[in-house]
Amino acid sequence: MLGLENITKEYVTGDSKVEALKGITLQFRKNEFVSILGQSGCGKTTLLNLIGGLDRYTTGDLVINGNSKKDFKR
Ligand SMILES: Nc1ncnc2c1ncn2[C@@H]1O[C@H](COP(=O)(O)OP(=O)(O)O)[C@@H](O)[C@H]1O
Ligand SMILES: [Mg+2]
Repeated sequence: MLGLENITKEYVTGDSKVEALKGITLQFRKNEFVSILGQSGCGKTTLLNLIGGLDRYTTGDLVINGNSKKDFKR
């Protein structure tokens, strides 16, 4: 249904770069109830923003019902 393939996200601000996600691969099944747990700053909000289409990932791919997000019109 929804899949993440080796997703990375870097925030670049001036000279500093934060690697917020370093290669996330996971699959969600239909009707699955999922919680994302982790300490503050581990990348939970970043991950949800990417899944919800609110922000763009740096590399990798997001696959929705077998279709790469790269093939969707923006
Ligand atoms: N807009 C941003 N610009 C630069 N760094 C950010 C930004 N948003 C988050 N970060 C950094 O990315 C990392 C992950 O943050 P975040 O996804 O908010 O974690 P969580 O939601 O798990 O607390 C942290 O190091 C945070 O400081
Ligand atoms: Mg958060």
